[in-house]
Amino acid sequence: MAVQTSDDNTAEALLRVEHLCQYFRKGKNVNKAVSDVSFTINKGEVFGLVGESGCGKTTTGRAIIGLYQPTSGAIYYGGERIDGLGKRGRKKLASKIQMIYQDPISSLDPRMTVYDIIAEGLLINGERNRDRLDSKVYEILELVGLTKEHAARFPHEFSGGQRQRIGIARAVIMEPELIIADEPVSALDVSVQAQVINLLNDLRQRLGLTILFIAHDLSVVKYFSDRIGVMYFGRLVELASSKELFDHPLHPYTRSLLSAIPLPDPVYEKMRQRQVYRPGEDGDPDYLGEDTSLLEVREGHFVMCTEKIRESLAGEIDESV
Ligand SMILES: Nc1ncnc2c1ncn2[C@@H]1O[C@H](COP(=O)(O)OP(=O)(O)OP(=O)(O)O)[C@@H](O)[C@H]1O
Ligand SMILES: [Mg+2]
Repeated sequence: MAVQTSDDNTAEALLRVEHLCQYFRKGKNVNKAVSDVSFTINKGEVFGLVGESGCGKTTTGRAIIGLYQPTSGAIYYGGERIDGLGKRGRKKLASKIQMIYQDPISSLDPRMTVYDIIAEGLLINGERNRDRLDSKVYEILELVGLTKEHAARFPHEFSGGQRQRIGIARAVIMEPELIIADEPVSALDVSVQAQVINLLNDLRQRLGLTILFIAHDLSVVKYFSDRIGVMYFGRLVELASSKELFDHPLHPYTRSLLSAIPLPDPVYEKMRQRQVYRPGEDGDPDYLGEDTSLLEVREGHFVMCTEKIRESLAGEIDESV
């Protein structure tokens, strides 16, 4: 069944993830890393995927680029089904979808120069012309705020922020349409985080990129994302436009994530109470029980809940606007 998880019917869907399940089996145990996750990313938009450590964000990204064969569900790119592609199909897809990896230290081969790291994708695609390779690599280095002189150096000679720029250059040189940026700033100092986010935003506008931006912190994705999906223990529990999610967070887990964000306002900070989400406890209705599914509470705003909760949330939201 097709899932309409976008609020803009006129926008062109670039990526469609439908009922994705990715389970890992270890002996008798099954880890449901991603469970029945559906969302759509439109062309040119930044989609933020947020949730705490271990909730399945990276696994979702890795399933999209074909590193895993999904347990069930389907993934469509530009209308074409891409889960379960063979080696050749995946290679073709690699020039359209690129991933910026979570850890800028371990994702760059320490024995390769920056030049070789950035040029690798083009070489794999069969580019052999040295002049073309040189000019592309140097151009991309400039684009991400590094210089030609950096090309001959090795990853360990760079700071965390610079390494992340190398990771971005390696992805961007392939001229992808979609970039999966997996926590590209989590390992960085706050001051450097803003620089890398600005760089991604700039590249998005200049190159017309579509971005799946993965983060564990809602404050990081707030200004950068058009829409946000919130994950909790392998499930997508809320999905809405960025503004709608911050104005009307409806799932108790999203509310708990928002309550964790400090604001530079001493009065608010004094009042701020951290809400901890304990599913089904304290007499709260259970938003994750067996009879729950991702339901549209109002246009483009989806919440994991039961039909009864959906009705009461819709009423609550109508009263508040
Ligand atoms: N290759 C794998 N084999 C077995 N289990 C895995 C594998 N990859 C991930 N997992 C498990 O799947 C779950 C989700 O992991 P995932 O890396 O997707 O989380 P995440 O949301 O990206 O977390 P983080 O914010 O810490 O990066 C975890 O319980 C993890 O242990
Ligand atoms: Mg991860």
